[in-house]
Amino acid sequence: MAEKRTIRFGIIGCGLMGREFAVASARWPALLETKARPEIVAICDLNESLFGWYRQNFPSIRQFTTKYHELLANQDVEIVYCAVPHNLHEQFYMDILKAGKHLLGEKPFGIDAAANERILAAIDAHPHLFVRCSSEFPFFPGGHQVHKYILENPWGRIIEVHSGYLHSSDLNFQKPINWKRMIEFNGEYGCLSDLGMHAMHIPLRVRWIPRRVYASLSKIVTERPDGKGSTAPCVTWDNGTITCEVEHPTDGYTFPMTLKTYRISPGETDTWYIEVIGTKFSAKFSTKFPKTLKTMHYVDGDTQEWRHEDVGYGSAYKTITGPIFEFGFTDAILQMWAALVEEFVDRPAHMPFGCITPEETRLQHKILAAALTSGKTHQVVEIG
Ligand SMILES: NC(=O)c1ccc[n+]([C@@H]2O[C@H](COP(=O)([O-])OP(=O)(O)OC[C@H]3O[C@@H](n4cnc5c(N)ncnc54)[C@H](O)[C@@H]3O)[C@@H](O)[C@H]2O)c1
Repeated sequence: MAEKRTIRFGIIGCGLMGREFAVASARWPALLETKARPEIVAICDLNESLFGWYRQNFPSIRQFTTKYHELLANQDVEIVYCAVPHNLHEQFYMDILKAGKHLLGEKPFGIDAAANERILAAIDAHPHLFVRCSSEFPFFPGGHQVHKYILENPWGRIIEVHSGYLHSSDLNFQKPINWKRMIEFNGEYGCLSDLGMHAMHIPLRVRWIPRRVYASLSKIVTERPDGKGSTAPCVTWDNGTITCEVEHPTDGYTFPMTLKTYRISPGETDTWYIEVIGTKFSAKFSTKFPKTLKTMHYVDGDTQEWRHEDVGYGSAYKTITGPIFEFGFTDAILQMWAALVEEFVDRPAHMPFGCITPEETRLQHKILAAALTSGKTHQVVEIG
């Protein structure tokens, strides 16, 4: 068996997502056909109390620092996974590129459209560096299959598309405020940019780019405990529904698409879904029922029956896991990292599915900026 190349990673931001990546790297033997494997050699976080877990579980890490410039000066680090609050994306991503490191950034890839443009200009100035943005849900086998259907275009005429990401961790009004609910750290977009990339990844990949949008935005919780015995105002948007008009990229007609991003969706803990409804063929997948792909094939005059298929572990990148087993969030993270490493090493012309490109982050920001304006003015906003 050929020796796998080792790619040396640094992590900046060792919180929720930093840890998910670290664990994915430890699960790498589950992947059967990857040409390379990640090794975490350096980590950075302001919160040193996070280091103990990494130290205990990842002997490959040789640098622990609270100053990200020290990690960027580390010659061993080839590529950086940067998972920090949105207000830091611009400065950190640009400094990572200036230091000559490749980058996997987190969404929304800049706190607003202007920050995103400056990051993209820095990427243009460093064309030899590989840059992608994280988003894992389309790697669920059901989501991956819906993407494959979209490429085959079996719909007849698309009647409508729905894509969204719903959770309800904010339904508890007593939950103390954190940075994701503060405008200065999360940005004015609120839920739109926190969850929007999840809803947009497949539509952007297949060039379902809205021409115009109308957004309904809600602020449901106006204040929360501040964690210090008092309360703090909640000024970010909790829920957003973006209604879009999309021109089919090859067939010319337009169809409606909704993108939902809800932080307060009772009954949903973590639901990503995509539904494409067409005159001849329809498909629905939701992580709420992670095994089940629903499809309807309709021939004129025929009965209309939804078919429910257990898709099992039909992952984009082959693993040791048996095809009958269930797939979950951590599997999607592993698949996303497999896609990233594969593309980084090989730049293959055709990939089963890849991480978000910088250009797709720009399109995301165009849609988010238009949605924010629409939500505030109650007007339809054209996307230029
Ligand atoms: N892909 C996904 O499914 C997903 C899920 C959640 C969050 N995210 C994104 O990941 C990013 C991070 O979110 P998270 O949930 O991991 O947040 P988190 O708060 O759990 O972690 C962020 C970490 O950054 C650290 N940090 C803050 N300032 C720093 C600085 N100056 N230098 C070094 N470290 C610093 C914090 O101490 C914290 O540990 C955000 O962009 C968020 O939108 C993505």
